[in-house]
Amino acid sequence: MGADRLPTGIASVDRLLGGGLETDSVTEVYGEGGSGKTLFCLDVAHRVAQEGRWVFYIDTEGVSVDRLRSIAGANLEKLLKRFLLSTPKDLEEQTDAVRTACALAREGRRPVGLLVVDSATAYYRLSLSGPDEDDARQALSLEISDLVVTAMRAHVAVLVTNQVWRSIRDGTLEPVGGSFLNHAAKTILFFERLPGPRRRAILKKHRDRPEGSADFRITDQGLDGGSSA
Ligand code: GTP
Ligand code: MG
Repeated sequence: MGADRLPTGIASVDRLLGGGLETDSVTEVYGEGGSGKTLFCLDVAHRVAQEGRWVFYIDTEGVSVDRLRSIAGANLEKLLKRFLLSTPKDLEEQTDAVRTACALAREGRRPVGLLVVDSATAYYRLSLSGPDEDDARQALSLEISDLVVTAMRAHVAVLVTNQVWRSIRDGTLEPVGGSFLNHAAKTILFFERLPGPRRRAILKKHRDRPEGSADFRITDQGLDGGSSA
């Protein structure tokens, strides 16, 4: 038996994932700037809040409310009542925000449907190659462990985004977060930019789904993965 799924509402991606995000594990989405990671997080968050469950959203880019407005329209104020939004300004604040969100999710007083960290690695990346590199690695590892345990115990879908670097050897785009994040995430999606508004989600890792891909488009109202038929 597979885990329960949280539909993303993006038909092609839901088909790829066998129904949606797993609700007891961490899903990682990585891809270059503009590949749609943030829009994906907001789309799923919008759907969860619309259905009356809480979203704990950690936004290191400080863009979520503006972007959510174009997805949610007149419903924005109502939706934000189901959002616990935090906008950390550095890795230390991010660590605190993740710890708090995980503790609240596990406490179970609010029905939480989704926990998002977008981006999990932006501040971490800034600390690499500096004097705080070891501390940053440790902070990220602890955060990810906390998220893994929270997903399992609170039965909540956890969605984290990760940035990329380009391998000099073969030119491929590789996730920044290092092997720890890639081991901890049970599902890994790579978002690829295609011409114009087209994007492709490539399934790199899953517990019980074959590798494959799903195409979708960026629209003013969010992501469109075609019809669900
Ligand atoms: P980084 O955070 O920079 O790594 O990028 P990302 O992967 O999070 O990309 P994001 O989801 O922010 O944006 C994906 C693309 O959507 C970008 O090319 C944006 O220009 C585009 N975009 C954002 N909002 C809208 C919108 O309301 N309408 C349309 N048509 N495009 C949008
Ligand atoms: Mg983004």
